[in-house]
Amino acid sequence: MFTIQEFFGIEKPILQGGMAHVSDHNLAAAVSNAGGLGILASGGYSAEEFRHHIHECRKLTDKPFAVNLALSYPNIEEIIEVALEEKVPFAIAGGGNPAPYFQKLTDAGMTVVPVIGNSKMAKKVVELGAKACIFEGAEAGGHIGALNTMAALPGIVDSVDIPVIAAGGIASGRQILAAEILGAQGVQVGTRFLAANECNVHEKFKDAVIEAQDKDVTVTGYMSHPVRVMKNKMTEKYLPLEKEGGRQKELEELGTGATRRASVEGDVEWGSVMIGQAVGHVTKRESVAEIIDTLFKEYEEAKSSICK
Ligand SMILES: Cc1cc2nc3c(=O)[nH]c(=O)nc-3n(C[C@H](O)[C@H](O)[C@H](O)COP(=O)(O)O)c2cc1C
Repeated sequence: MFTIQEFFGIEKPILQGGMAHVSDHNLAAAVSNAGGLGILASGGYSAEEFRHHIHECRKLTDKPFAVNLALSYPNIEEIIEVALEEKVPFAIAGGGNPAPYFQKLTDAGMTVVPVIGNSKMAKKVVELGAKACIFEGAEAGGHIGALNTMAALPGIVDSVDIPVIAAGGIASGRQILAAEILGAQGVQVGTRFLAANECNVHEKFKDAVIEAQDKDVTVTGYMSHPVRVMKNKMTEKYLPLEKEGGRQKELEELGTGATRRASVEGDVEWGSVMIGQAVGHVTKRESVAEIIDTLFKEYEEAKSSICK
């Protein structure tokens, strides 16, 4: 039995991962209204844009939602100030070390749930005082760590005595059940929501996600900050350059603004289309409520088929 619902005050044990340039108030509120936990991105927003999304989210839902603190972004200090002023109850801290901010956030009454990549990090966030954490495996879309969800999750669950939420490569009910069997107390899902009606990415981005299959996914930035993305013209050029080493300037030119180029401007050839390995499960545009409904129907079917 998943147990994370009580922790967040939600009905279903599913979090929609914070996604820079993607998970605005429309997506987050739709997920919260459908019984999960919607998570507003902060990455890519100015402090005032971020505040606007919090206000709009509150207009669309009276259910709990969270903000994602993208710790590697240069304006993170300002973003944190806004999150505190707006008294958002939950912060999901991803993409860096939460230690410098943890005490300040919790002293202000916020519950901080860090995203971790291995059991050493899991133990560290427990020492900081985290009451739950999210383990994101390298199957995920976007910035990734080294370990895989399926292989590492049980060990991470055993390494700490707080609830662990599984993320990375979960886009079907069978995978939700697998995460539960491996000891997760809930799941965080990103890629599966990319073609949702309420997701405000460019329509060309949605088409690309719907067409993409498992073999269409690759990783850029292996030498620095690995990012799981869709293969396209940008990766065809980027990957050999990266392998050769050097030519940093050209790599930077290709990478700068690439996420926004894909998700906001719809340039799916030269932008960075961040998707996870389970992208093959995204086959059409549908509402968030339909996606969550399908995931839990599949979960129940899978459970009853193995628990006869
Ligand atoms: C387009 C995209 C953008 C993302 N941006 C962020 C981000 O800003 N902060 C963060 O903590 N995680 C980010 N992630 C990771 C998600 O929050 C989530 O953990 C991940 O998508 C789960 O794996 P899945 O894509 O296989 O479902 C991003 C993922 C995607 C696909």
